Amino acid sequence: MVKMTEQTLVTEKPAKPHLPDAQTVNSVQHYTDRLFSFRVSRPQSLRFRSGEFVMIGLMGDNGKPLLRAYSIASPNWDEELEFYSIKVPDGPLTSKLQHIQPGDEIILRPKPVGTLVHDALLPGKRVWFLATGTGIAPFASLMRDPETYEKFDEVIMMHTCREVAELEYGRKLVEDLQNDPLIGEMVEGKLRYYPTTTREEFHHMGRITDNLSSGKVFEDLGLTPMNPETDRAMVCGSLAFNKDVMAVLESFGLREGANSEPREYVVEKAFVGEGV
Ligand code: FAD
Ligand code: A2P
Repeated sequence: MVKMTEQTLVTEKPAKPHLPDAQTVNSVQHYTDRLFSFRVSRPQSLRFRSGEFVMIGLMGDNGKPLLRAYSIASPNWDEELEFYSIKVPDGPLTSKLQHIQPGDEIILRPKPVGTLVHDALLPGKRVWFLATGTGIAPFASLMRDPETYEKFDEVIMMHTCREVAELEYGRKLVEDLQNDPLIGEMVEGKLRYYPTTTREEFHHMGRITDNLSSGKVFEDLGLTPMNPETDRAMVCGSLAFNKDVMAVLESFGLREGANSEPREYVVEKAFVGEGV
């Protein structure tokens, strides 16, 4: 469209075409060369249970949407949606997604699903959130949901990464939560955060599987060992981690549950493949 002003001829850019199911990026934060988080607008009609995932992505070069599964990291009361993401150097989606800026658009299919939801667990006293790497994303949602603290007396967040910098997203989230004017009081004394590294010096180290099997985490936090009467768990990490931690949970007598059959623990893959 061409518009005449007093002395200049101004050519207006055509409006950016909207993507189907488009949401606007509001903010982006980078943590390491492999990790970043971003917040986008939330479709007004989108209802989800904290812990669920959706398909998000960008328009591919072939004109077709390039979508991947992403856990919603924000709680269900939040006005925006938050995601926590890996950057895979040659990854079809994340090699591009890592460059998004505020004002850009992403595609978001508003059909939330997943097993890491309160409905899939029987009532209990303590809940263990067990995550490696980006597997903390669904727990970033669940840790900020008041329902978690209404349902359980104690919430133990175990997060393990290779290096200290990879723990930063979770560390900051827990710190902000403890200081939050609304939910801070609910969280106080109930949320126990137990981050560890495996390949860089840190005050607590070791794999989640080892720290559970050896009893080190119970000792460090002054807790009684897990038992199926009181303890519930939610697991999210690589396939290898999930498999190994499930064996540990079973050794404590916990059984895998699902939306259709709530039991003592539930599991979801943080990604498919061997990891980068
Ligand atoms: P892809 O072709 O999808 O992956 C290439 C390779 O990169 C994979 O084979 C794997 O080896 C590795 N890889 C992929 N994702 C990860 C990861 N998260 N951590 C370590 N290595 C990885 N990813 C997130 O970053 N955040 C999430 O919240 C998230 N939630 C998911 C929930 C579910 C249920 C599933 C199944 C996957 C989830 N993923 C998540 C993984 C995500 O769907 C994509 O695989 C990821 O965004 C990379 O996309 P890509 O196209 O760049 O590479
Ligand atoms: P480790 O350094 O001993 O392999 P990754 O980046 O490979 O996905 O790993 C993320 C974290 O999960 C690392 O600290 C890694 O420990 C740990 N991990 C990887 N595989 C397993 C497993 N099978 N059981 C327990 N922890 C695991």
